[in-house]
Amino acid sequence: MLKSVGVLIIVTLAVVRAEEPAARSRSSSRAEWVREHRSQNPRLYANEDIYEDATLSVPDLIRKYGYPSETHHVTTDDNYILEMHRIPHGRDKNNDPSVARPVVFVMHGLISSSADYIIMGPERSLGYILAEEGFDVWMGNARGNYYSRAHTRLNPDSSTSFWNFTWDHIGYYDIAAMVDYVLAITGRPAVHYIGHSQGTTSFLVLTSLRPEYNDKFKSVHLMAPVAFMDNFPSEDLASLARYSLTLANLGTAIGLDEVFAKGTVFTFNEQGEIVCIEDNSLVNFCRWFIPAFSAQSLAHFPADMLPVILGHTPAGSALKQFAHYGQTISNAAFRRWSYTTPVQNLLAYGSLRAPSYDISNIKADITLHYSVADTLAAEVDVLALSDALQNGKAKRVPLDKFTHFDFAWGTTAKELVYDDIKEAMWDYERTH
Ligand SMILES: *[C@@H]1O[C@H](CO)[C@@H](O)[C@H](O)[C@H]1NC(C)=O
Repeated sequence: MLKSVGVLIIVTLAVVRAEEPAARSRSSSRAEWVREHRSQNPRLYANEDIYEDATLSVPDLIRKYGYPSETHHVTTDDNYILEMHRIPHGRDKNNDPSVARPVVFVMHGLISSSADYIIMGPERSLGYILAEEGFDVWMGNARGNYYSRAHTRLNPDSSTSFWNFTWDHIGYYDIAAMVDYVLAITGRPAVHYIGHSQGTTSFLVLTSLRPEYNDKFKSVHLMAPVAFMDNFPSEDLASLARYSLTLANLGTAIGLDEVFAKGTVFTFNEQGEIVCIEDNSLVNFCRWFIPAFSAQSLAHFPADMLPVILGHTPAGSALKQFAHYGQTISNAAFRRWSYTTPVQNLLAYGSLRAPSYDISNIKADITLHYSVADTLAAEVDVLALSDALQNGKAKRVPLDKFTHFDFAWGTTAKELVYDDIKEAMWDYERTH
């Protein structure tokens, strides 16, 4: 059955791509889309904040809730232009701008953005909580997402080369450039790091490929860590993974190199239910994803927040990011990108097979926060990663129903995860 889903996706990619050359304009069409749906679904947007929060940009949202907001742009060594969002201090507590405070760098997951750490509001979102607790909060955005869809030379709307990256590049180039920038601006020698999902994968990529970066991190907190995927829990996705290279190659061949751009996948019907945008190139994936996502979301985040979540998510990615996870699952190995032929691997890496990331290079002080209900990170894989790390330990979230998405948006994330991370960061500050 999954084979047919994979084929369906590929076919749909091809068909829709051929028929819909337009529809790539971003923010204006997005605002129109939301306006239209608001007029069609007044009940859905009964609360003015829900409507507004679904549509405002991250910096505007931070300002709306009374927090200091800064936007910074960083150019990577390979010329991508990334946008970072900063909450330099608290609103109610720890709000004296002149006080020096420890710096924390927060990195989002696949198809997400810095929005993950603010959209649930000051009570629940990690960005605000850390600012109130006395940290200088910097939130990154990976190349290709809504905020970092820019390059000094390549045009993301017309260049296939722009989308020629995986989370290997996000780790090697993006996190390195953003962390160096934060260190330069704040004059600090090191930052605390919090990553979610792909933000954990790319951290491990960076510190294994560029070991000199280990010293730039104080304590490191990886939520829902994804690297070893030998026992990937989702049967459906594991089957799809086998088609990943075909998918990436085909996608590139037909020009579909960007997937899940902001505002292109979900919408709401008149009953206020989430439905797929039918002319979307990933409509089949969307149809598969929605039941799984909705079942989880209703249990863990309030239904009235779904418009806000889906107003900011997905935030865009390259097809190759998915394909690289696909390779990781199907190879049961945490390796660099495998090219189609051994000769290409030889040219890129000097070996016929893509090399494994050398975990022994990773020396940072790392805590892996995982949950047993996470359908994207199996407990046994997280524990194996923890064992492989020199300074790694694993902490299980003390609620068995806690999901992959709860780390970003869950109503219990503060009590079950964020408070613990905050305490660990202050412990580090006190003892170093
Ligand atoms: C993508 O990058 C690889 C090298 O990393 C290169 O061999 C390939 O030609 C690139 N493809 C495109 C479409 O730019």
